[in-house]
Amino acid sequence: MSTLVQQSCAPRGLRGLAVLVTGAASGIGRATAERCWQDGATVAALDLDLRSLGETMQRLEALDAGRYIALEADVADPIQVRSALADLARSLDALYGVVNVAGIGGYTGDVAETTLEQWGRSLAVNLSGAFHVCREALALLRAGGRGRIVNVSSQYGLLGGAGSPAYCAAKAGMIGLTKAMAVDHADEGILVNCVCPGPIDTAMLAASGRSGERSKRESRRTATRLLLGRPGRPDDVAGVIAFLLGPDARNMTGAVVAVDGGWSAS
Ligand SMILES: NC(=O)c1ccc[n+]([C@@H]2O[C@H](COP(=O)([O-])OP(=O)(O)OC[C@H]3O[C@@H](n4cnc5c(N)ncnc54)[C@H](O)[C@@H]3O)[C@@H](O)[C@H]2O)c1
Repeated sequence: MSTLVQQSCAPRGLRGLAVLVTGAASGIGRATAERCWQDGATVAALDLDLRSLGETMQRLEALDAGRYIALEADVADPIQVRSALADLARSLDALYGVVNVAGIGGYTGDVAETTLEQWGRSLAVNLSGAFHVCREALALLRAGGRGRIVNVSSQYGLLGGAGSPAYCAAKAGMIGLTKAMAVDHADEGILVNCVCPGPIDTAMLAASGRSGERSKRESRRTATRLLLGRPGRPDDVAGVIAFLLGPDARNMTGAVVAVDGGWSAS
C-alpha cells in the first residue's frame, strides 16, 4: 500500500479523532455532530446560534460528557473564524475532519430583485464561510498527517431553482471549491468531497415553504422530482457524511454526492 493511501485510511469509526462541524446547532449540522460523536469522534461544534448549539451539546452530554467543544462564530466573518479555530487549537493537537454545513437559504427573487445585501450575505455564508473555515483549519488537519473535508452544497448547486440566484451561485461555487481543494491537498492525504442534499426536513426547509408564490412553484416542481416521494431526514445526510469521513471512502476525493431522493435525476 502506498504511503498516501495508508495516510488516507481512517481507523474503523472515528474513535480518537476530532471532527469540526459547522452549523451544528440545527438540522443537518446537528445530525452530523451527533453521528460523528456516536462514531467515537471528539466533536468541535461551531455555530453562530450559541443557545441552540447548547441544545446539541446537551443531547450529547446526556449520552456521555467530555467529547465535545462548542465554538461560537459567524463563518462569514474571517476574524471570528480565525479566533474560534485558535481557541480550538488550544484544546486539540490535530483535527481529522472538517464538515462545512453552516448555510442560509431563502428566496431572494430573480437577479433584478435580489438586493446587493442578499447577494453578499448568501455568498459570504454559503461559500466564503467554507473557505474561511478550511483556511484556518488546514494547519490542524496537517498536524494529524491526514484528513477529510466534507462540504455541504445543495441540489441547487447542480441545477437551477426559482428565485435563488445567490444561493444557486454559492452552492455551485461550493462544488468548485471542493474540486480545487481535492487537487491541492491529495498528496497531503487530505481528501475533500461534497454532498448535495435535496429537500431535507429541517428548519430551513420549513422556512422556505413559507415564502409565497415562488416557494409554491418550487414545491410543485419538487413534488415531481422527488423520486422517493418525500423530503429526506437530517440523519440521511449525516450518514453519507459519516461514510465520506470513514475508511470506506479512502479512494474518494473531489466527489460530488447527491443525497436528494432522486431530485437531480430527472
Ligand atoms: N434542508 C434542506 O432542504 C437543504 C437542501 C440542500 C442543502 N441544504 C444545506 O444544508 C446545510 C444545512 O441546512 P439545514 O437545512 O440543516 O439548515 P438549518 O437552518 O436547520 O441549520 C443551519 C445551521 O447553520 C447555522 N448558521 C447559519 N448561518 C451561519 C453563519 N453565518 N455562521 C455559523 N453558523 C451559521 C444556523 O445557526 C443553523 O444552526 C446548509 O448549507 C443548506 O444550504 C439544506
